[in-house]
Parts: sequence; structure tokens; C-alpha cells
Amino acid sequence: MSAVIREQDTLDVARIRRDFPILGRKVRGKQLVYLDNAATTQKPQAVIDRIVRYYTEENSNVHRGVHYLSEVATAAYEAARTTVKKFIHARDEKEIVFTRGTTEAINLVAQTWGRANVEPGDEVLITAIEHHSNIVPWQMLCAEKGATMRVAPVNDAGDVLLDEFRALLTDRTKIVAIGHASNALGTINPVKQMIAMAHDAGAVVIVDGAQGVPHLPIDVQDLGCEFYAFSGHKVYAPTGIGVLYGKEAILDAMPPWQGGGDMILSVTFEKTTYNALPYKFEAGTPNIEGVIGLAAALDYVSSIGIEAIAAHEHDLERYATRRLLEVEGLKIIGTAKSKASVISFTLEGVHPHDIGTILDQEGIAIRTGHHCAQPIMMRFNIPATGRASFGLYNTREEADALVSGLKKVIEVFR
Ligand SMILES: Cc1ncc(COP(=O)(O)O)c(C=O)c1O
Repeated sequence: MSAVIREQDTLDVARIRRDFPILGRKVRGKQLVYLDNAATTQKPQAVIDRIVRYYTEENSNVHRGVHYLSEVATAAYEAARTTVKKFIHARDEKEIVFTRGTTEAINLVAQTWGRANVEPGDEVLITAIEHHSNIVPWQMLCAEKGATMRVAPVNDAGDVLLDEFRALLTDRTKIVAIGHASNALGTINPVKQMIAMAHDAGAVVIVDGAQGVPHLPIDVQDLGCEFYAFSGHKVYAPTGIGVLYGKEAILDAMPPWQGGGDMILSVTFEKTTYNALPYKFEAGTPNIEGVIGLAAALDYVSSIGIEAIAAHEHDLERYATRRLLEVEGLKIIGTAKSKASVISFTLEGVHPHDIGTILDQEGIAIRTGHHCAQPIMMRFNIPATGRASFGLYNTREEADALVSGLKKVIEVFR
């Protein structure tokens, strides 16, 4: 069956793989097959080299010094903001706030915009496929404010039921928090349509783009959302760096979050005045190496082309799905109409943890567990799944290796 499926040559994957030094290593004596990209991606040499250059030639604190190195570091830091702005098609650099990651970006919105605007009796609407980081901050806000969190359900394929989503939007809905793509099921939400529906109801929208930015072209102005959050480490950048995009007017009207250096204009014991955007939300010494590494990663992705990456990953997802369905007793959890390159599955009679452990002996890295999305696991009446997630450097041969590995798992449990 698999032999008749021809690979779409959208990317020169062999060349790309040479850019990622870790992909050449062996794990447990076997060639590494890295299929855990939804958890974090590997880093290209260009990103590693950029960070080394920063520490070798440019290291200094930003925004505060008049000396040469501080100017160089500040210029690199602010140039990175422009790179991010262009990558997600924001209107202005002021709309790009650097955070620790998606989680921190969502918490920032919940705790500043949310605290200032959500009142008792108000509602926050999310969907059933959200990651814990797009559930818990809203639960915390609702508990504090006496508001209610509503959840739009999904069908058995993992598609959000749009009629139910629309029906849950009322004049009490203050904010809608939706994932661009699900890390647990792979579902790509029709976010533009959902944003328009939320706006019709007068709600503000935050999109959790942790699994959007690595796989899809992003144009925040076209989407029209008020906020968009993502993590660098899922798009070939270092850990500990992420972005909150916010429309300028809404960010401007929001109170600051953390207090400290850099987010102020002047401080006396009586009164503090706050800095302009985006610095108002960047208290303290930032993750300078992370910001610079993020720009290098986005430049790398742009040099390949996000459309070509998306096409390659789509091909891998389709191919791997077909091949996985050849495995006896394997069930794919999440068969949405539009999917990112994330495939969750169960294997009859085998706990996902055992699948992961046996595959690891073959050098194959997948993730097993609830994927920080326990409510959607409950929706499908399962405690956990195995999850293979593909990035720009993965190949059909690696999908084949996964299938062979799973056949070994079955032999062990037979
Ligand atoms: C859909 C989604 N949202 C949010 C997050 C949280 O990202 P981070 O841990 O980088 O803040 C993840 C991470 O797995 C994710 O997949």
C-alpha cells in the first residue's frame, strides 16, 4: 500500500537535516528518529552559532548602557523584534512583547487584561481541545472574579462544533481563548472564522499559537485577533523565549503585569510612571540570548519558506497516518478535517508508556501521556495516547521506522 504513495518533493530534507547536528547522533546504539516536535523542536546550527556569537562577541545588558557592547546587544534585541513582527505580520514592533513562552503570554493577558475587564457574571469561552496553559489561567481568573468558564465541545473527530461554539457566545462573553492547532489531536481550528464569530458577539480573542507558528503561515492582521501567543522552542528557537502579540490599542490600555526595571519611565516612592509599549510588559533583564536565538530561528524558517514546510509536514502527516493504520490494533485519536503534523494513537492492549519505552530502545522518540490536555483525553475516554509529531526535518523513512517499531511493540506484548 505504502509503495504507491509518492513523496512530494517540497523540501530538500537531506540538506535540511545536515543543518541540525543532533539529528546525526545515535540513541541507544540506533540512529535517532526524533518524532517529539510538538513538545520541542531541535535547533539548527544557525541558531546555535548565533547564540555562541552573542556570548563570544556581544554579551551585555540591553537598553541601559551607553557603552559599545550594550548598544550592539540592544540593536540585536530590537532587530529581533522586527523579525518577529514581520514573521507574524504584525503592524508595529510595539505589538510584540517578549515572554518566557506561550504559557507566560496567556497568563499575562489573563492577569492584566482579564483582571481589568472581567467582572462577576462574565464568561470566558475556550474549546475542549485546549492545552492546560490555555485552561488554567482562565480558571484562575474566573475564580478570582466570580466569572464562568464555558467550553465549546468537539465531535468524535476532534473538530470543534462551530454551531455550539457560536451558541456559547453571548453578551456575557468577555474573552475567547482558542488554540490555533491542538498539540494532543492535531486539529487545526478554523480560527479566522471563530475570531469573526467572537467579534460579532463583542468578545476579545486570544489565540494560543504554540502549535500554529511552527506549522502554518501566520498573519495576525488578517486573522484579526486581539492577542496571539507562541513559544520559540517549538519553532526551532531556544527554550525560555516566547511572544505575546497584542493589538497596540488594547496593549496600551492594559495595566502592566510584573513590576521592575525597564518597564518604568520614572519611579519615586510616591508614584511610578510606566514605560511605553512594549517595554511596559518586559520587566527586568530579558532573555537576550533567547530573543536573538528566536530571530535566528525565524530567519532560518523563512529561508526555507513556511509554506514549503507546511506542505512537507502535511505530506508526512498523510503518509504516516496511512502507514500507521496498517498496524494491527492501532487507533488514531483525532481525525479532524484539517490537521497539523501531530498524530495521537492508542494500541490495543498496550499502555502508551510501554509503547514509548520500547520505541525508545529503537532510538525512536515519541511522547506518551496526556500531553497537558487532560480534559480532551477524558472526552475520548482514554488516560493517555502515544503521539508522533513531525517537523520540517522528518522523512517518510522515519514514519516507516515508527511503523516497524510499533510492530515490534506488538510482538513483545503478543
Ligand atoms: C497548544 C499548546 N499550547 C501551549 C503550550 C505551552 O507552551 P510552553 O510550555 O512553551 O509555554 C503548548 C506546549 O506544549 C502547546 O502545545
